[in-house]
Amino acid sequence: MIDLQIRTARAGEAATVLSFWKAAAEGTSITDDMDGVTRLIERDPEALILAEYEGRLVGSVIAGYDGWRCSLYRLAVLPSHRRRGIASALLEAAERRFLAVGGRRGDAMVLEANERARRAWAAAGYQREDHWRRWVKPFA
Ligand SMILES: CC(C)(COP(=O)(O)OP(=O)(O)OC[C@H]1O[C@@H](n2cnc3c(N)ncnc32)[C@H](O)[C@@H]1OP(=O)(O)O)[C@@H](O)C(=O)NCCC(=O)NCCS
Repeated sequence: MIDLQIRTARAGEAATVLSFWKAAAEGTSITDDMDGVTRLIERDPEALILAEYEGRLVGSVIAGYDGWRCSLYRLAVLPSHRRRGIASALLEAAERRFLAVGGRRGDAMVLEANERARRAWAAAGYQREDHWRRWVKPFA
């Protein structure tokens, strides 16, 4: 395991996080813009968890808690830094956060075709459930 610093995002880091996701994340979502990330950091400063190595942003996960459920998004590690335990360390930090606020179970959306991601979630103890489909409605 490398010498990582795990910390929550600071106000003003939205642009850095967005450019990190361009290099590291799988796809994009409707909230991947300055307004979306800034709102996340303002609304729940503990939710966006980052991993730094030698002063460089190398990993992220969003650990969102709304008082009801624990939702995980944007697990991503820089391609050059993969398979060194960074995702595992981020998911451990997310779990600590959830336990501290009384969360009971973590939920993540994982693309079926994303084999690497499936393995990483499974390694962290997450189990795939077959009996759901995602239902969505964009508001704008
Ligand atoms: C998925 C991802 C976050 C994993 O990050 P990582 O830091 O490389 O993962 P870790 O090193 O913590 O791996 C933990 C365990 O997950 C499994 N795993 C991770 N990547 C794997 C791969 N490419 N192949 C097989 N197993 C893998 C292994 O069991 C691994 O433990 P091991 O290295 O001791 O065998 C990274 O590959 C990534 O950013 N992918 C693109 C973005 C993405 O798909 N995110 C998930 C969205 S749901």
